[in-house]
Amino acid sequence: MSNKRGLFDKRFCDFVRKNFKEGAVVCLTGAGISNESSIPTFRGKGGLWEKYDPGMYASMDGLVSVFRKNPKDLVDFVSDFYGVLLKAKANPAHISLAALEKVGIVKAIITQNIDSLHQRAGSRSVVELHGNSFRIRCSDCGSKLSLEINRAKEMVSLFEKNSGSRIKLLKIMSRYCPRCSKCGGRYRTDIVLFGEQLPAEELKLAYKLLSGCKCLLVIGSSLVVYPAASLPLYAKERGAKLIEINSEPSALSDIFDYKIMGKAGDILPEIARLLI
Ligand code: OAD
Ligand code: ZN
Repeated sequence: MSNKRGLFDKRFCDFVRKNFKEGAVVCLTGAGISNESSIPTFRGKGGLWEKYDPGMYASMDGLVSVFRKNPKDLVDFVSDFYGVLLKAKANPAHISLAALEKVGIVKAIITQNIDSLHQRAGSRSVVELHGNSFRIRCSDCGSKLSLEINRAKEMVSLFEKNSGSRIKLLKIMSRYCPRCSKCGGRYRTDIVLFGEQLPAEELKLAYKLLSGCKCLLVIGSSLVVYPAASLPLYAKERGAKLIEINSEPSALSDIFDYKIMGKAGDILPEIARLLI
């Protein structure tokens, strides 16, 4: 063990000091990095999909049918989902990545998260593969608008107050997801739901970043959702070294060069300390 808190062995410390240079590191993050910001992950104990069946709650068709059957169930989901997002603050893991970007070591973060916490921690180069829960997008022309936190709070509170009335809930939805002034299409959440395509520009940018990176740091992802889960192998085939930071092994742990098991909020500040 060669770092102060004994989290890493000498081989890993040497690797980091030698290779984490200007622009060498790209990160791929998943729900685990935001777990210490009190946002539950999707899978595993206490995960969102333990409480809500993703077969129903992770797709647009599913959500529509939940609303038709019992609007209160949809309100409970929206309230749980946004409730934690609205309260969450960036944690030491997000903050360390932002600091490593500031000194030029981290080139970009490719994230599957939709919580804006990387940006709130100060990261600038963030590629959002699965959209953002604080944004809405026109279903027809794709134009985007931000859904400010206060507006999102107001929306959730109106949902909760009117959970018994389908008509009122529909009115609230059309107020917060209005018609597009450019094409007349309807706005919807800018989160990529199951069965939907990832945003093409973001995916293209992710591939470009991974083609040129020396090290890919994969933090807090189970690596079971594709195409995001295919990105580590894509980077490895192009010469990148792969490092996994996770509280337990992911589905693809075997392909990693270094596996650091533990909480992102403990490990990333310690990596930053080795370098800054
Ligand atoms: P998952 O919930 O599938 O996995 C979270 C991972 O984080 C697990 O591997 C945990 O072991 C790990 N973990 C939990 N707490 C941690 C901590 N404090 N530090 C480090 N690791 C920790 O989340 P994702 O892999 O991000 O899709 O899920 C991928 C996609 O599935 C999500 O983007 C979402 C979901 O359905 C969409 O919204 C489209
Ligand atoms: Zn439009």
